[in-house]
Amino acid sequence: MESLGIDIGGSGIKAALVNTLTGELLSDRLRMATPQPSTPERVAAVVAEAALQLGWHGPAGIGFPAAVTQGIVRTATNIDHKWIGMDAVELFSEALGQPCTVLNDADAAGLAEIAFGEGRDVAGTVIVLTLGTGIGSAVFNNGILQPNTELGHLLFRGDIAEHYASDAARKAAGLSWEKWGKRLDKYLKHVENLFWPQLLILGGGSSRKFEAFAAQLTTRTPVVAARHRNQAGLIGAAMASSRART
Ligand code: BGC
Repeated sequence: MESLGIDIGGSGIKAALVNTLTGELLSDRLRMATPQPSTPERVAAVVAEAALQLGWHGPAGIGFPAAVTQGIVRTATNIDHKWIGMDAVELFSEALGQPCTVLNDADAAGLAEIAFGEGRDVAGTVIVLTLGTGIGSAVFNNGILQPNTELGHLLFRGDIAEHYASDAARKAAGLSWEKWGKRLDKYLKHVENLFWPQLLILGGGSSRKFEAFAAQLTTRTPVVAARHRNQAGLIGAAMASSRART
Protein backbone atom coordinates (compact mmCIF):
# COMPACT_ATOMS: atom_id res chain seq x y z
CA MET A 1 0.00 0.00 0.00
CA GLU A 2 1.30 3.43 -0.90
CA SER A 3 0.61 6.73 0.78
CA LEU A 4 2.04 10.20 1.04
CA GLY A 5 3.59 10.84 4.46
CA ILE A 6 4.11 14.38 5.67
CA ASP A 7 5.82 15.48 8.86
CA ILE A 8 5.14 19.06 9.87
CA GLY A 9 7.64 20.47 12.31
CA GLY A 10 8.29 23.85 13.87
CA SER A 11 11.08 24.54 11.37
CA GLY A 12 10.72 22.06 8.50
CA ILE A 13 8.07 20.14 6.59
CA LYS A 14 9.19 16.76 5.27
CA ALA A 15 7.33 14.62 2.75
CA ALA A 16 7.84 11.35 0.87
CA LEU A 17 5.85 8.54 -0.66
CA VAL A 18 5.93 5.49 1.57
CA ASN A 19 5.23 1.80 1.18
CA THR A 20 3.14 1.44 4.33
CA LEU A 21 3.48 -2.35 4.43
CA THR A 22 7.26 -2.19 4.74
CA GLY A 23 7.98 1.38 5.87
CA GLU A 24 10.25 1.96 2.87
CA LEU A 25 10.40 5.30 1.12
CA LEU A 26 9.26 5.14 -2.49
CA SER A 27 10.43 8.62 -3.44
CA ASP A 28 13.03 11.19 -2.52
CA ARG A 29 12.38 12.94 0.75
CA LEU A 30 11.41 16.56 0.28
CA ARG A 31 12.19 19.11 2.94
CA MET A 32 10.69 22.56 2.85
CA ALA A 33 10.95 25.31 5.45
CA THR A 34 7.91 25.73 7.67
CA PRO A 35 6.50 29.13 6.64
CA GLN A 36 6.77 31.88 9.22
CA PRO A 37 4.28 32.76 10.50
CA SER A 38 3.12 29.15 10.31
CA THR A 39 -0.55 29.96 9.77
CA PRO A 40 -2.98 27.25 8.61
CA GLU A 41 -3.28 28.68 5.06
CA ARG A 42 0.47 28.97 4.57
CA VAL A 43 1.25 25.52 5.95
CA ALA A 44 -1.53 23.96 3.85
CA ALA A 45 -0.07 25.62 0.75
CA VAL A 46 3.36 24.06 1.44
CA VAL A 47 1.75 20.66 1.95
CA ALA A 48 -0.10 20.98 -1.37
CA GLU A 49 3.15 22.02 -3.06
CA ALA A 50 4.92 18.95 -1.64
CA ALA A 51 2.24 16.64 -3.06
CA LEU A 52 2.55 18.39 -6.41
CA GLN A 53 6.32 18.05 -6.47
CA LEU A 54 6.03 14.34 -5.69
CA GLY A 55 3.37 13.95 -8.41
CA TRP A 56 1.01 12.36 -5.89
CA HIS A 57 -2.76 12.27 -6.29
CA GLY A 58 -3.90 10.10 -3.44
CA PRO A 59 -4.49 9.99 0.31
CA ALA A 60 -2.01 11.53 2.71
CA GLY A 61 -1.12 11.15 6.36
CA ILE A 62 0.11 14.21 8.21
CA GLY A 63 2.01 14.33 11.47
CA PHE A 64 1.32 17.62 13.18
CA PRO A 65 3.26 19.15 16.11
CA ALA A 66 0.33 19.47 18.51
CA ALA A 67 -2.28 17.44 20.35
CA VAL A 68 -4.83 16.41 17.73
CA THR A 69 -8.16 14.80 18.58
CA GLN A 70 -10.75 13.84 15.94
CA GLY A 71 -8.73 15.80 13.41
CA ILE A 72 -8.94 19.02 15.43
CA VAL A 73 -5.74 20.75 16.53
CA ARG A 74 -5.94 21.44 20.27
CA THR A 75 -2.62 23.06 21.17
CA ALA A 76 0.01 25.22 19.47
CA THR A 77 3.39 25.46 21.14
CA ASN A 78 5.72 25.52 18.13
CA ILE A 79 3.19 26.46 15.48
CA ASP A 80 1.00 29.51 14.90
CA HIS A 81 -1.79 29.95 17.46
CA LYS A 82 -4.38 30.26 14.72
CA TRP A 83 -4.24 26.45 14.54
CA ILE A 84 -6.01 25.98 17.85
CA GLY A 85 -9.50 24.63 17.20
CA MET A 86 -8.80 24.21 13.49
CA ASP A 87 -10.18 21.14 11.71
CA ALA A 88 -6.87 20.04 10.20
CA VAL A 89 -8.39 17.05 8.40
CA GLU A 90 -10.79 19.33 6.55
CA LEU A 91 -8.15 21.96 5.82
CA PHE A 92 -5.55 19.55 4.41
CA SER A 93 -8.12 17.43 2.57
CA GLU A 94 -9.34 20.56 0.80
CA ALA A 95 -5.82 21.79 0.06
CA LEU A 96 -4.80 18.42 -1.44
CA GLY A 97 -8.16 17.46 -2.91
CA GLN A 98 -7.58 14.06 -1.30
CA PRO A 99 -8.55 12.38 1.96
CA CYS A 100 -6.09 13.23 4.73
CA THR A 101 -5.44 11.72 8.13
CA VAL A 102 -3.89 13.96 10.77
CA LEU A 103 -2.23 12.87 14.00
CA ASN A 104 0.37 14.12 16.46
CA ASP A 105 3.86 14.09 14.90
CA ALA A 106 5.51 12.07 17.68
CA ASP A 107 2.67 9.55 17.68
CA ALA A 108 3.33 9.14 13.96
CA ALA A 109 7.07 8.56 14.57
CA GLY A 110 6.16 6.04 17.25
CA LEU A 111 3.88 4.07 14.94
CA ALA A 112 6.76 3.61 12.48
CA GLU A 113 9.22 2.51 15.16
CA ILE A 114 6.77 0.06 16.72
CA ALA A 115 5.88 -1.47 13.36
CA PHE A 116 9.25 -1.48 11.57
CA GLY A 117 11.87 -0.14 13.92
CA GLU A 118 13.38 -0.44 17.36
CA GLY A 119 10.09 -0.94 19.18
CA ARG A 120 9.02 -3.94 17.15
CA ASP A 121 7.97 -6.89 19.32
CA VAL A 122 9.00 -5.14 22.54
CA ALA A 123 6.52 -6.03 25.29
CA GLY A 124 5.49 -3.59 28.01
CA THR A 125 5.88 0.17 27.87
CA VAL A 126 7.91 1.72 25.08
CA ILE A 127 8.32 5.49 24.88
CA VAL A 128 9.38 7.27 21.72
CA LEU A 129 10.62 10.83 22.25
CA THR A 130 11.23 13.13 19.31
CA LEU A 131 13.85 15.79 19.89
CA GLY A 132 13.46 18.73 17.58
CA THR A 133 12.00 22.21 17.91
CA GLY A 134 9.98 20.75 20.78
CA ILE A 135 9.96 17.35 22.47
CA GLY A 136 7.20 15.04 21.32
CA SER A 137 6.24 11.74 22.89
CA ALA A 138 4.50 8.53 21.91
CA VAL A 139 3.71 6.04 24.67
CA PHE A 140 2.97 2.41 23.76
CA ASN A 141 1.95 -0.48 25.92
CA ASN A 142 2.32 -3.88 24.27
CA GLY A 143 2.28 -2.12 20.91
CA ILE A 144 -0.85 -0.07 21.60
CA LEU A 145 -0.50 3.70 21.38
CA GLN A 146 -1.88 6.00 24.04
CA PRO A 147 -2.25 9.05 21.76
CA ASN A 148 -1.42 12.68 22.50
CA THR A 149 0.79 12.25 25.50
CA GLU A 150 2.74 15.48 25.91
CA LEU A 151 5.83 14.40 27.83
CA GLY A 152 7.81 17.31 26.42
CA HIS A 153 5.49 19.49 28.49
CA LEU A 154 6.22 17.80 31.80
CA LEU A 155 7.24 20.45 34.27
CA PHE A 156 10.96 20.08 34.77
CA ARG A 157 13.32 22.49 36.54
CA GLY A 158 10.62 25.16 36.71
CA ASP A 159 9.60 25.14 33.04
CA ILE A 160 8.27 22.76 30.44
CA ALA A 161 10.90 20.13 29.72
CA GLU A 162 11.27 20.92 26.03
CA HIS A 163 12.61 24.36 26.92
CA TYR A 164 15.47 22.57 28.68
CA ALA A 165 16.21 19.49 26.58
CA SER A 166 14.91 19.93 23.01
CA ASP A 167 17.23 20.34 20.04
CA ALA A 168 16.07 23.96 19.83
CA ALA A 169 17.15 24.45 23.47
CA ARG A 170 20.58 23.02 22.58
CA LYS A 171 20.94 25.45 19.71
CA ALA A 172 19.63 28.43 21.70
CA ALA A 173 22.10 27.81 24.51
CA GLY A 174 24.96 26.99 22.10
CA LEU A 175 25.61 23.69 23.89
CA SER A 176 27.99 20.99 22.68
CA TRP A 177 26.39 17.59 22.03
CA GLU A 178 28.08 16.39 25.16
CA LYS A 179 26.69 19.16 27.38
CA TRP A 180 23.26 18.85 25.88
CA GLY A 181 23.44 15.06 26.32
CA LYS A 182 23.85 15.62 30.06
CA ARG A 183 20.68 17.74 30.08
CA LEU A 184 18.84 15.12 28.07
CA ASP A 185 19.97 12.46 30.51
CA LYS A 186 18.38 14.34 33.42
CA TYR A 187 15.12 14.67 31.54
CA LEU A 188 15.12 11.00 30.49
CA LYS A 189 15.64 9.97 34.11
CA HIS A 190 12.63 12.03 35.07
CA VAL A 191 10.56 10.28 32.38
CA GLU A 192 11.74 6.79 33.35
CA ASN A 193 10.96 7.42 37.00
CA LEU A 194 7.40 8.37 36.11
CA PHE A 195 6.66 5.67 33.51
CA TRP A 196 9.08 2.78 34.05
CA PRO A 197 9.38 1.94 30.36
CA GLN A 198 11.18 -1.11 28.93
CA LEU A 199 12.76 0.96 26.21
CA LEU A 200 13.27 4.60 25.25
CA ILE A 201 13.56 5.39 21.55
CA LEU A 202 14.88 8.79 20.46
CA GLY A 203 13.73 10.28 17.17
CA GLY A 204 13.51 13.77 15.71
CA GLY A 205 16.31 15.95 14.36
CA SER A 206 18.86 15.23 17.08
CA SER A 207 18.54 11.47 16.70
CA ARG A 208 20.72 11.80 13.60
CA LYS A 209 23.55 12.73 15.99
CA PHE A 210 22.81 10.00 18.52
CA GLU A 211 26.41 8.80 18.58
CA ALA A 212 27.58 12.27 19.62
CA PHE A 213 25.64 12.26 22.91
CA ALA A 214 24.85 8.58 23.63
CA ALA A 215 27.78 8.29 26.04
CA GLN A 216 26.13 10.88 28.33
CA LEU A 217 22.99 8.81 28.84
CA THR A 218 22.99 6.94 32.13
CA THR A 219 19.36 5.85 32.52
CA ARG A 220 18.62 2.34 33.77
CA THR A 221 16.29 2.00 30.77
CA PRO A 222 17.98 1.12 27.48
CA VAL A 223 17.98 4.09 25.09
CA VAL A 224 18.33 3.68 21.33
CA ALA A 225 18.05 5.96 18.31
CA ALA A 226 14.96 5.48 16.18
CA ARG A 227 15.86 3.11 13.35
CA HIS A 228 14.28 5.56 10.93
CA ARG A 229 15.87 8.49 12.74
CA ASN A 230 14.21 11.72 11.65
CA GLN A 231 12.17 9.97 8.92
CA ALA A 232 10.08 7.96 11.38
CA GLY A 233 7.47 10.75 11.52
CA LEU A 234 6.64 10.80 7.85
CA ILE A 235 6.67 7.00 7.61
CA GLY A 236 4.24 6.73 10.52
CA ALA A 237 2.03 9.48 9.11
CA ALA A 238 1.72 7.53 5.86
CA MET A 239 0.94 4.38 7.87
CA ALA A 240 -1.86 6.19 9.72
CA SER A 241 -3.34 7.20 6.38
CA SER A 242 -3.31 3.61 5.10
CA ARG A 243 -4.82 2.34 8.35
CA ALA A 244 -7.65 4.87 8.08
CA ARG A 245 -8.54 3.34 4.72
CA THR A 246 -8.60 -0.32 5.75
C1 BGC B 1 4.02 19.75 21.06
C2 BGC B 1 3.79 18.29 20.76
C3 BGC B 1 4.72 17.85 19.65
C4 BGC B 1 6.15 18.21 19.98
C5 BGC B 1 7.11 17.86 18.86
C6 BGC B 1 5.47 19.97 21.38
O1 BGC B 1 5.70 21.30 21.69
O2 BGC B 1 3.21 20.17 22.14
O3 BGC B 1 2.45 18.05 20.42
O4 BGC B 1 4.59 16.47 19.44
O5 BGC B 1 6.28 19.58 20.27
O6 BGC B 1 6.80 18.53 17.69
